[in-house]
Amino acid sequence: MMRSTLGDLHLAVIMDGNGRWATTRGLPRVAGHRAGADALRCLIQAAPEHGIGIVTVYAFSSDNWRRPPDEVGALMRLLRTYLARETERCVEEGVRISLIGRRDRLPGFLLPQIEKSEHSTRYCSRLHLRLAIDYSSRDAILDAARSGDLTRESLSKKLGPDVDLLIRTGGEQRLSDFLLWECAYAEFSFSRRMWPDFGAEDLAAAMRDFDSRERRFGSVPIAAVG
Ligand code: FPP
Repeated sequence: MMRSTLGDLHLAVIMDGNGRWATTRGLPRVAGHRAGADALRCLIQAAPEHGIGIVTVYAFSSDNWRRPPDEVGALMRLLRTYLARETERCVEEGVRISLIGRRDRLPGFLLPQIEKSEHSTRYCSRLHLRLAIDYSSRDAILDAARSGDLTRESLSKKLGPDVDLLIRTGGEQRLSDFLLWECAYAEFSFSRRMWPDFGAEDLAAAMRDFDSRERRFGSVPIAAVG
């Protein structure tokens, strides 16, 4: 079914395993990131048919600045290339792009492309793709807490929508400073697949599993409500 408006679900993805995918094939790590960018395009195409309206992906954490400068540079250039190449397609397919994370430390060649992509896609309403770049959830929570009244509602409003399902590929089972507040009641799906190998079938399987779970949000099973 082709949806023209946002689905209800917020999917968050930690796209882990690009480096291992590449090195097991005798390729440089950046080849894994390139293949990872292709896997992201597949995910975006498949997401709306599962009722997903928002996809937030961890593209570069604030701790990733610790990686070797060559890899950081290659990732930043890849992000620019991806956005330059994909923005027109996103407009056609109704995908709004926005950035979460710090903007002030990004290279001068990347920020204008991000702003251009955000501007060009601002009215797109089929899917909202949020790219977490130079992102730390702890820092985002601190910024939100510093900037006004401290209530659950105001923090949630500043940080963004709660996550329904978080997928992490690559075999690790941790959050790594990603959407800590927003994942308070998220369901988790950990996959041993390396991110470049994660395809539409894997998303469909994760969604079937998600649909089979009973989300109680601290309450009791529906059957027990008398
Ligand atoms: C983690 O794998 C992945 C990243 C730090 C970068 C994610 C980036 C992409 C998927 C490509 C570009 C993104 C966009 C939005 C176009 P890793 O390098 O830590 O893998 P490893 O654990 O196997 O070393």
